[in-house]
Amino acid sequence: MDEIHVIGGNCLHGNITVQGSKNTVLPLMAGALLYRGINVLKACPRITDVFYMEEILRALGAETWWEDHDLYLDCTHADGSHVPEIYSGRMRSSIILLGPILARNQQAEIGYPGGCVIGKRPVDLHLYVLRRFGAEIKEEEKKITVSCKKLCGTEIVFSKRSVGATEQAILCATLSKGTTTLRNCAREPEIVWLCRFLNAMGAKIEGAGEDCICIEGTEKLCGTKMQIPADRIVTGTYLCAAAATRGHIVIENAPEGELDTFLQVYRKMGGQYEWKSGKLIANGAGIQFSVPFLETEAYPGFPTDLQSPLLAVLTTVPGISRIRENIFENRFKICSELTKMGAHIEVRGSEVKICGSRLKGCRLRAEELRGGAALVIAALAADGESVIEGVPFIRRGYEDICRDLRYLQAEIYMEDILSV
Ligand code: EPZ
Repeated sequence: MDEIHVIGGNCLHGNITVQGSKNTVLPLMAGALLYRGINVLKACPRITDVFYMEEILRALGAETWWEDHDLYLDCTHADGSHVPEIYSGRMRSSIILLGPILARNQQAEIGYPGGCVIGKRPVDLHLYVLRRFGAEIKEEEKKITVSCKKLCGTEIVFSKRSVGATEQAILCATLSKGTTTLRNCAREPEIVWLCRFLNAMGAKIEGAGEDCICIEGTEKLCGTKMQIPADRIVTGTYLCAAAATRGHIVIENAPEGELDTFLQVYRKMGGQYEWKSGKLIANGAGIQFSVPFLETEAYPGFPTDLQSPLLAVLTTVPGISRIRENIFENRFKICSELTKMGAHIEVRGSEVKICGSRLKGCRLRAEELRGGAALVIAALAADGESVIEGVPFIRRGYEDICRDLRYLQAEIYMEDILSV
């Protein structure tokens, strides 16, 4: 079992290129099912969640292969309709496969996707979407069975902004009969990239990134190649690592325009940044101001996925900071681990109060993806050595966090304790 070792105290500096976006690739892999041929996703991150989705597509009959970071998906014979619970239970985002499987086979079955450490993760909005397109749904204790002769275009007004449910609706509408109008959609960049990908395959989608998206159902699609954009959350994570150590870094391929709210907070803390010929230059030397209040919101608000990484930075900034988590019910799990390092944190329901202090290295345990990355950030700022367990959680979204941070002069390495 691997552990991450960090010797804290180095001021991060240097240049880095960020991996492709996990939350862009996963819906595009589901979208590839809509075409009985080959699609190519270029510059894909080699992370566990992508390998999980690849395994599911293969189980459905697809052929997949890699050429370096380019992922080839041949869905010619991907006519399976059953996603076993062993798959859906370990990656809940597999729920967005229901729409594409239904569009191909008129029926689909999936093991109930579990909740996870950060929240209950209900799927009611996904089922609402499928019903709106005319699907019959049978919910049993361990599985969901869905059937529909032909998906029909419809009007959907989402009761709340949901990235996955918006993706589900777009994937259902693409090959459905007639027109679909979606209102109160999620506006995340991942929605825009999914629509770009589907339009490149021949879909007719307008309004991606806006409140309202209109889709004209088409009969057939073709294959395409899509360059995956840099991961905005990994970019934000590394900016937090530099901020926690008051470092100065250059991100060669940062996704301009996808991090504006985060960068506003970075500047409020005393950080400086500028965009220069596609690169993001960030100087955290002046970071000294606490954040009196911040809340996570659907895009373009402050992203929930950067809440834990920012929390780790704020434990090192003098003064009182407050964060309210509005998206998930249980995203302060790392506070007990940070407290072990000497952080002064009070959790009150969906809010956390942080009083900046010095941190000292110690043994830490990651229990979920972004919390794990936040523990690495705190360890980089702490005095002395930290050891972080729970590396598989971090590998779900970060291709090689140790390699990346070593490029920025962090003293960090992975140790496989079984081999010791
Ligand atoms: C996506 O999850 C991302 N995952 C998450 O990133 C991200 O945190 C989240 O969007 C919010 O931005 C992927 O893209 C693979 P939602 P998703 O549906 O689609 C509630 C990471 O670390 N809801 O936008 O599952 C839900 O409980 C991950 O990379 C319902 O009530 O999130 C939450 O409160 C973590 N019913 C809110 O909506 C539903 O049917 C937003 O969730 C679906 C969601």
